[in-house]
Amino acid sequence: MINKINTLAEEIKALTASTAEEVEAIRLKYLSKKGVISSLMNDFRTVPAEQKREIGQLLNQLKTVANDKFAALKESLASGADAAHSEIDLTRSATPAHFGTRHPLSIVKNEIFEIFGAMGFTIAEGPEIEDDWHVFSSLNFPPDHPARDMQDTFFISRHPQDILLRTHTSSVQTRTMEATRPPIRIICPGRVYRNEAISARAHCFFHQVEGLYIDKNVSFADLKQCLLYFAREMFGPETKIRLRPSYFPFTEPSAEMDISCHICGGKGCPFCKGTGWVEILGCGMVDPNVLEACGIDSKEYTGYAFGMGVERITNLKYRVKDLRLFSENDVRFLHEFDAAH
Ligand code: PHE
Repeated sequence: MINKINTLAEEIKALTASTAEEVEAIRLKYLSKKGVISSLMNDFRTVPAEQKREIGQLLNQLKTVANDKFAALKESLASGADAAHSEIDLTRSATPAHFGTRHPLSIVKNEIFEIFGAMGFTIAEGPEIEDDWHVFSSLNFPPDHPARDMQDTFFISRHPQDILLRTHTSSVQTRTMEATRPPIRIICPGRVYRNEAISARAHCFFHQVEGLYIDKNVSFADLKQCLLYFAREMFGPETKIRLRPSYFPFTEPSAEMDISCHICGGKGCPFCKGTGWVEILGCGMVDPNVLEACGIDSKEYTGYAFGMGVERITNLKYRVKDLRLFSENDVRFLHEFDAAH
């Protein structure tokens, strides 16, 4: 029996196979239940007790040799198949890769960052869930003042109605004024919320970039020059601006800024409803009450602030007619901006 096992081992070591069928035939012959090794195992029962140990070991070794051989043959067959596949033409172009597109609001937001970044503004961010102090009270909205109706919001705490979703990123300006000393020159991007019925022209959330500059001797002329530079960079060098008196609790004086209609160049067209102007942002000189509420001496420092909706600027640039498209995640809409960045 020992001889039989040894010759079988040699035989197995010498085996070769070039097709899957041959490998399978080898498995059947040696390793299957009715195979040679299996029948040797059956014979093992008749081996005299004193030889059991030696023969048992040999048999186990034989089994390992056969298993290893089978695995090796299978493996070489598989890598042979790989070699065959290498006939694939690697010079052909691959399946086109679909890259994502930057969201139009991000494209425009980044442009805004660049323009104000060139003027020395840095970015400041803050929480979307805010308290009454940072969104309203510190910004000179007295409790129950009708000015709060301009920005109806979502309250998170009921009694007291103190925790809410921010209605503007002016809250980040307050936080920065509280935490640092002038000169302050920041822009505050972020998502804001208002309790509005959703339509093509309004949503319950949108995105803002607000700006704040506080230093000694900051004047309205500085504000105007800064915004003129922004308008020309954003909408082209021919752009004119116009400031109309307005009201915000946190600025005095306050203004709405219009730009000359970039579609008709100011002549009047359906887009600007024949006026030649389109409104783009709110601005003004920071009310001394706001500076004082944030611990800044209003006799020493003055400052200006402005705030714009990113959706509004994007609409003007790309004439998106329905605001809801920005948050519906329709990739067909997003792919229209492939070339824009
Ligand atoms: N916070 C104002 C708004 O959300 C915008 C604004 C900012 C106006 C700064 C003036 C000055 O409507």
